[in-house]
Parts: sequence; C-alpha cells; structure tokens
Amino acid sequence: MRHVLVVDDIAENRYLLEVLLKGNGFEVQSAAHGAEALESARKEPPALIVSDILMPVMDGYTFCRECKADKRLRCIPFIFYTATYTEKKDQALAMSLGADRFVIKPQEPGELLALIRETLSDYLTGAAQPSVDVPPEEEVLREHNQVLFHKLEKKMADLEQANRELEQKILEQQRTEEQLRQAQKMEAIGRFSAGIAHDFNNMLTVIFGYGAMMLMNMSSDDPQRDKLDQILAAAERARNLTRSLLIFSRKQELKRERLNLNGSIKNVEMLLRRIIGEDISLIMSLSEEEIAIIADSGHIEQMLMNLATNARDAMPTGGMLSLGTDVVEIDEEFVKMHGFGTPGRYAVISVSDTGVGMDAATLQRIFEPFFTTKETGKGTGLGLSIIYGIIQQHKGHINVYSEPGQGATFRIYLPVMPGDAPDNDTTPCRQDIPRGHETILVVDDDTAIRDYLELFLTELGYRVFSARDGREAIDVFREKMGQIDLVLMDVILPHKNGREAAREIRSMKSDIKVLFNSGYPSDLVHGRNLLESGELMLMKPLTPSELAVTVRAALDGELLVLSEVGKGTTFTVRLPIGREVI
Ligand SMILES: Nc1ncnc2c1ncn2[C@@H]1O[C@H](COP(=O)(O)OP(=O)(O)OP(=O)(O)O)[C@@H](O)[C@H]1O
Ligand SMILES: [Mg+2]
Repeated sequence: MRHVLVVDDIAENRYLLEVLLKGNGFEVQSAAHGAEALESARKEPPALIVSDILMPVMDGYTFCRECKADKRLRCIPFIFYTATYTEKKDQALAMSLGADRFVIKPQEPGELLALIRETLSDYLTGAAQPSVDVPPEEEVLREHNQVLFHKLEKKMADLEQANRELEQKILEQQRTEEQLRQAQKMEAIGRFSAGIAHDFNNMLTVIFGYGAMMLMNMSSDDPQRDKLDQILAAAERARNLTRSLLIFSRKQELKRERLNLNGSIKNVEMLLRRIIGEDISLIMSLSEEEIAIIADSGHIEQMLMNLATNARDAMPTGGMLSLGTDVVEIDEEFVKMHGFGTPGRYAVISVSDTGVGMDAATLQRIFEPFFTTKETGKGTGLGLSIIYGIIQQHKGHINVYSEPGQGATFRIYLPVMPGDAPDNDTTPCRQDIPRGHETILVVDDDTAIRDYLELFLTELGYRVFSARDGREAIDVFREKMGQIDLVLMDVILPHKNGREAAREIRSMKSDIKVLFNSGYPSDLVHGRNLLESGELMLMKPLTPSELAVTVRAALDGELLVLSEVGKGTTFTVRLPIGREVI
C-alpha cells in the first residue's frame, strides 16, 4: 500500500505535497494537525507519515510520540518536514522520538520524492527498523516543551516583524495615495488657473495700456498722476498674482537662462529691503565665487520675495534676515545624512530669520498649497508651494530647519552649471519707448484689446489696420498687402485661428513678420500645436513699454529666438527694460 498521510496546518503546503505525491502514484490522506492525523491514522494506518512540527491542537512531536506509543502505528515510517526555525536540537528531539528523517523545507520536489521512496524501500527491505523504544515520558516532555517554546518565541518575533513590515507598506501606500490626490488637485487647480489667466491677462493688458497712455500724456505735476500710479501699481500686483498662479500650476513656460546667481540676488536686494521694512535688518553674505546656474531670473526673484515676505510676517516686532549663497557638493553621504538630494554640485541659497519659528506639525505642511497659519485675508498659503513648484522645475531641492521661537532657515539647492557666471546687469534700465512709422495689422477678437493696440501703436507713430478674426485679417491683408510690415495677432481667433490665417497671409507674402500674442500660457499654445516654427509668441499682459520694444525689435529683425532641444522650439523675447510701466 502506498498511502501517505500528510500533516500540515498550512493548506498550501498540504496541497503542494498532495499534488507531488498523487502525481507520482501515491494515495494521499491529509490532516491539519496532529490530533486529526492521529485519528485518521488509527482509522486507516498509512504506509508513511510526513508531518510538520508547529501546528495547532497537537504539534508534530506529540503526534510522533503518540504514533510510537501506539502498537498499530509505531512501525509506520515517520518523516518530519519542517521549515520553522530549525536547529540541531530540534532534529535531535525528533530522532529521539523515533522519527526516521528530519527534512528541512523547502526541498526540491524530486529530492523529497526520492527521500520518501528511499524511506519506504528501507522499510520494505528491512534495512530500517522502526524504533520501538518509546523514551521515558518525563525526559522527553521537558525537552519537547523547551523546543516548542523556543520555536513559538521565534515564530512570534517573526510575525511581529512581518506585522511591522506590513504596517510600513500600508503607510507607504497611504502616502502614495495622498501624493496622487495632491497631484490631481494641483492638476485641477493648474487647469483652472490657466483658464482664468487668459481672460485676466486680456483685462490687464487693457488696464496697463490705457493707464500707460494716460501717463504718457500727463505732465509730471498733474494732480491725477498719483491716482493713476496707484491703479497701475495694483495692475502690476494683479499681473504678479496671475504669474504666481501660473508658476504654481507649472503652466508657465520656464525661461532657461544662464544666470549669475549672486548678481540676480543683488538685483532684488532693494525690493527685498522694501518688503521687510525698516525694523528688520538684511544681512547678505554672498559667496566670493560667482555661481552660474540655469534658471528663470523671474522665478528666482519670486522665490526670494516669497521667502522674505514670510520672514517679515514671522518677525512682527523686527529682527534679522540673513541671505547667503554658497556652493556644496551633494554626495551619497549627504543624501544618507539629510534624507534628500541627488548627487551633484549645487548652489545653495540660504534664507534665515530670527522670527517666531514653527513647530513640527506646521513644518510638515508648509509646502501644501493653501496651507496657512495666517488669519483670513492675510495669507493665501501659496507662497511656499510656488517656491516648491519652481524648485521642482529647476531640479533642485529645498530643506527647512525651524523650531518654535528659534527662527527658520530655508535652504534652496539649485544645480550649478559648469563654466563662468555671466555678468549680470544689476541696474534695471529704463529706456525711452521706441517708436516707428511702419504699418501694422492688429488682429484680435477682443474689442477692448484691439482698440487699445490701435490707439497705442498709433500714438507711437505707426499706421494701424485692424481685423476682428482670422478671415477678416486675410481680407485686410490682401487689400493692403503692399503697405503692411508686421502682423500682430492673437493666437486663438474665431472663424480662422491665428495660425491658419498666418499661413494664408504668408502664402501671399512669404517674408511677412508675424508676432503672436496670447493670454494662454505659451506651453498650452505649443501643446495645441498652434504655432509653427519661425513664428514669434508674446504673452499677455504686456506692459505698453514691453509691447513697444517687442514690436520695434520684430520690425528690426532683432528678436531673440531660443530653441530647446527635445522640447520643440521656444521663442523668448528678451526685453532690455525693467518690468515697470513707463
Ligand atoms: N519664515 C517663517 N517663519 C515661520 N513660519 C513660516 C515661515 N515661512 C512660512 N511659515 C509658515 O508656513 C505657512 C505657509 O507659508 P506660505 O508662504 O506658503 O503661505 P502664507 O505665507 O501663509 O500665505 P501667502 O504666502 O500665500 O501669502 C505660513 O502660514 C507660516 O505658518
Ligand atoms: Mg507666504
């Protein structure tokens, strides 16, 4: 009879053995613990027993002892097949109980089968004799208990470890889900802000435009001048807010310029002093070595302004703001010690204040969009998330150290570019508005914008024709072709979009200059494939001075075109003036 009794408390283990044995001509009976196995063996004695050790109800050792104590069962070959924390002592105990083999899991199926066959044939040929001396109860029991206790202890430790790992995994999963939710939220906010930015920028262009024109025609001692300045300053703030929203949503195209970091910081020094006020002193300690980075200077400026604003708010009764730069090498050791970073050479901008500081709970959340501890109306909670967005775009890192009452230190790491830092012009220059006599075709579906562009360009001395949509633009161009030097048009237009209209206009006059302007962030325009290479793109809202300079430069063929490998072509208009209204 080739009937094997398999005893194991784990169903998968029983199943595996069953499949192996049945597939090789054995009959199999299984049991989940010693007591069940004993009952089964007594009912129908098997040819061989394969048993686990640690099992509920009755463990393998007890089961083996019971078999050896039973006259009908003691001659059945008994194999222990176990994986749980096996030591020499366990094996010794098993053999002393009369077991024939002690096999450690997992075994190659072929080897296990060979062992089973060998044991059976040893019995059949009489090479092996069943052990019939049942060892004295007392002696075995002590040993048995010790071994089992030891095994259980180890199993408990193992379970606890598995539990800890599981908890860690659940935590990681929760974190990933939270990140995903956060990313989806950011994406939704991004789409929303890009949408409103379009309309918002059109309105701002009109406010800037008419305001600036009024200012141009006003004498310097006009009593209305102050009020107009206030209007334009508010428009500038609104422009910055739109810009911040776009940076935050990462829908703003990144200008990649080679920058001299210290120079860029010096450029905003005055602005920072204005932000923090007189009660806070600003200590600058810039590195002696010039540091070259590839970044968007506007973004660097934005980060410093946001950090200075936070520092000011943290020091209501005055204090000290320190701003420093340095170069560090991030290596594996640094990453291990600080828990962040990617190896490489980095410029570090450190911004420290002597303000109220933050507790651990606040620190954990400061980069979340809309997280603020400021009272309603005082903070939107976007400042640091904007910084975070900028740093991500620049492949940098940010790290914060703060304790309640101990001030705060923010360190920003940006990759250093090899080579010399370019000279930075530290004084934003203001220049006279360039004028001209050429003829420009203005195409925009927004009446307010069209009227403003027409009026403004006329005041600068240009001749202006205008059209409301793509189709009208083509008609006007066809009629006035000989006279028009530049087409200034919106990208998204009714009837025929800007790009199609431009293509038809070019088919009439191939070297005509086309300057697009759009309230959509330019990557959206690129993404929708609206622009062709060779066409130039401006972002609304342009201040009148920017517009005048760009139009002049386009007419003179002096616009700077930057091309980024792998990202399509990006056109950047380098404006040689500060961002202020005339
Ligand atoms: N230097 C600092 N000292 C103490 N707390 C700070 C500092 N910087 C930031 N915080 C804390 O982080 C929070 C988030 O800052 P964040 O700049 O993102 O938003 P905000 O300043 O509250 O609002 P917003 O910048 O949009 O006007 C702040 O409300 C404040 O609690
Ligand atoms: Mg802030």
